[in-house]
Amino acid sequence: MRAYQTLATLSLSLLAVAFAPAARPEDGHNAWLRYAPLEKTIASQYKTFPTRLEVTGDSVVLQSAQQELARGIQGMLGATLHPIQNETGAPTIVLGTIESIQQQLHDLRPSRELIQDAFWLKSAKLHGANCLIVAANNDRGVLYGVFALLGKIARGESIDALDEIQQPYAPIRWANQWDNLDGSIERGYAGRSIFFDNNNVRADLTRVNDYARLLASVGINGCAINNVNANPRALEPDFLPQLVRVADIFRAWGIRLTIAVDLGSPKLIGGLDTFDPLDPTVEKWWLDRVDQIYKQIPDFAGFVVKADSEGRLGPSTYHRTPADAANVIARALKPHGGIVFYRAFVYNHHLDWRDPKNDRAKAAYGNFHPLDGQFDGNVVVQIKHGPIDFQAREPVSPLFSGLEKTNEAIELQITQEYTGQQHHLCFLASMWKQVLDFDMHTGTDNTPVKDLVSGKTFHRPLGGFVGIVNVGLDTNWLAHPLAMANLYAFGRLAWDPNLDPRAIVQEWTQLTFGNDPTVVRAIVNLQMSSWPVYESYTGPLGAQTLTDILGSHYGPGIESSEENGWGQWHRADKEGIGMDRSVATGTGYVGQYRAPVAAMYESPASTPDELILFFHHVPYTYVLHSGKTVIQHIYDSHYEGAEHAEQFVEQWKLLKDRIDPERYADVLSRLEYQSGHAIVWRDAICNYFLRKSGIADTKGRAGNFPNRIEAESMKLQGYVPVDVIPWENASGGKAIECPQPQGCSASFPSTRAAGQYTLDVEYFDQKNGASKFRVFVEGRLVDQWTADRQLPATKIGADSSTRRRISGLTLHTGDEIRIEGIPDGDEHAALDYIELEPKL
Ligand code: GCU
Repeated sequence: MRAYQTLATLSLSLLAVAFAPAARPEDGHNAWLRYAPLEKTIASQYKTFPTRLEVTGDSVVLQSAQQELARGIQGMLGATLHPIQNETGAPTIVLGTIESIQQQLHDLRPSRELIQDAFWLKSAKLHGANCLIVAANNDRGVLYGVFALLGKIARGESIDALDEIQQPYAPIRWANQWDNLDGSIERGYAGRSIFFDNNNVRADLTRVNDYARLLASVGINGCAINNVNANPRALEPDFLPQLVRVADIFRAWGIRLTIAVDLGSPKLIGGLDTFDPLDPTVEKWWLDRVDQIYKQIPDFAGFVVKADSEGRLGPSTYHRTPADAANVIARALKPHGGIVFYRAFVYNHHLDWRDPKNDRAKAAYGNFHPLDGQFDGNVVVQIKHGPIDFQAREPVSPLFSGLEKTNEAIELQITQEYTGQQHHLCFLASMWKQVLDFDMHTGTDNTPVKDLVSGKTFHRPLGGFVGIVNVGLDTNWLAHPLAMANLYAFGRLAWDPNLDPRAIVQEWTQLTFGNDPTVVRAIVNLQMSSWPVYESYTGPLGAQTLTDILGSHYGPGIESSEENGWGQWHRADKEGIGMDRSVATGTGYVGQYRAPVAAMYESPASTPDELILFFHHVPYTYVLHSGKTVIQHIYDSHYEGAEHAEQFVEQWKLLKDRIDPERYADVLSRLEYQSGHAIVWRDAICNYFLRKSGIADTKGRAGNFPNRIEAESMKLQGYVPVDVIPWENASGGKAIECPQPQGCSASFPSTRAAGQYTLDVEYFDQKNGASKFRVFVEGRLVDQWTADRQLPATKIGADSSTRRRISGLTLHTGDEIRIEGIPDGDEHAALDYIELEPKL
């Protein structure tokens, strides 16, 4: 550096002694950037950490980097960093681009060239003093380097002798939010929008700043903030100043703003009588609009387009192609360095289900493969990871290997639309990793999805990863305290898809919950088993998530996908289940894969069990590679899945007093709920297929509930029995409801031997009311609660069915058990059944 003075700075070791970790409430707002005080033994290894900080350069991003470093070091080590300039001779941490640092330290050179956004962490002796350098090719890389350094310290990793270069796998690492301008979020499960309210950008954007910080900390460099089902207002001239405010906040974190646009905008808001992409007036309209935007947001990143899909306007109106539509916008953006993300999620949702050759899965490849080579260089085709729609299990989209001369990006879903909506724990990185590593066989060498989307395989200039996040105003961003692992993991995999999901979630856990090995081990294990467990009690063998696809996408809704145009069919009948997608006898979808992949999926014998029902229609008696029949697999996996979900609760309870009470209680309550809801799933699916196939469970479980007492069979006061539709979504197809505001009761005498029991009460918790329940044994109150969980349900059924567990209940034969329900609003304190199990 230039002449460092020998000015004495406060030594960190002095501070560390005086610094003791203090307990603080954990609300999840800072997610993995908590910078909690480190335990003394861990902190002691950083006692020589420099407290002088020199930043070579000046930009809003470098200011963020500097502030973040100061904040992190203050939080974790209790030390204050002192900004200096042009001083040498004392331990200093130096932040800057490699170019600016080299102006002062000519010999400082990383072992390889730093690409955009890459960074170099280096400990070096400068003028006799131990210094730490965070260098990068650009300012954003410096910021990433700071986050990486702070992460190492938070995890107690050594930073002596650092010489580490980290570089991103692909230039595009983007978040998409599906926020509506009115403040609601499509498929958002954690409160309203942090960006919008009442058709405007919010006045207070504090959370936008905090979100941008989180995104930047895992290397995300772009964000589309509004729903792909775009409101044309996003492009109205009077809205632009509002977007400017968001872009200004994003800029400080190296994040470029994108918006989703309605392709019909030239007509809808532009006063033209057409939006035909080949019409010169339309071309001019886009040019003008884009120019306006760049005047005010010079680093604007571009547009996301959903067209000709689920009712959106698109080029098909004028018999034009997606390439025509994408290119007209791309031409307007090109001079400014902007990009068009054109989504491949284009399909007909009015397919004729009676035609066995129809297949929604064929749509993306069918629409986009023929256009390969016709897209401009600044167009990226954004492809969902599977051919359908974020199901618990799908094969990878064949379109990844269907584009050689077109940029592509993979679209992954962090918000858990089909995977439990953050009421269930489902760590998705293991699924994403399987997708990213899947070899598409585009050449002789291994050509995994990650190399296709990052542009490596076909040498594309652009490409990468897009995650649908949908954080909301909930303090902890995604509602379930463990769900943020998905956002963290998305960022980490987008940065380096070669990372191992277990290692990623271990990092996340340490940053989010601290370094106690017992806590880390337990949470890592929970997270790692959560996706397989979720899959096992929801959608078997690639039949997809058997959920209510016409509504909530949440609880079981097995027939909702059938006999309609949406094309998420599983085609279960009396004899068998699954979609025949083979070339020989089916829809021909398999033929969209490259030959070696197609060969694997063409025949049931070589199709992996977990996808057999996606690719083939087989009898229930078909024997899987596992040796089980399909029907027995359905029974077994659902019973095992529900048992695992129950064990999650026990595993979590072991962490009591090892983590903060706030998150402990929140997660416990969610895991208890999940455990109950896994049984709802289990019973709906097992009972349905038992009736459909007529084949009994060899283990005698399906359809047999010896500990269960149906509510409709109890002595009812005020309560009335009702049918639940579909029948499989309530035990015995019936429930009881209380139609009178003063309340109702249901009672029964225990016929069980005297002893200790667990009593499970299955009731219905809707979001349009908060009924109260009380349980009495021989007139003695043993439990009470309010049904106020925010589930996606306004009526009784599988989405609202919820279990309350009362443990350690002492009962004598003949004791009267009475449940009282007091309705509220449109929620009628409905009950399904109770279960009495002897305490083990
Ligand atoms: C799913 C989702 C929609 C969303 C769509 C999309 O179908 O349910 O809400 O708009 O995906 O990705 O465009």
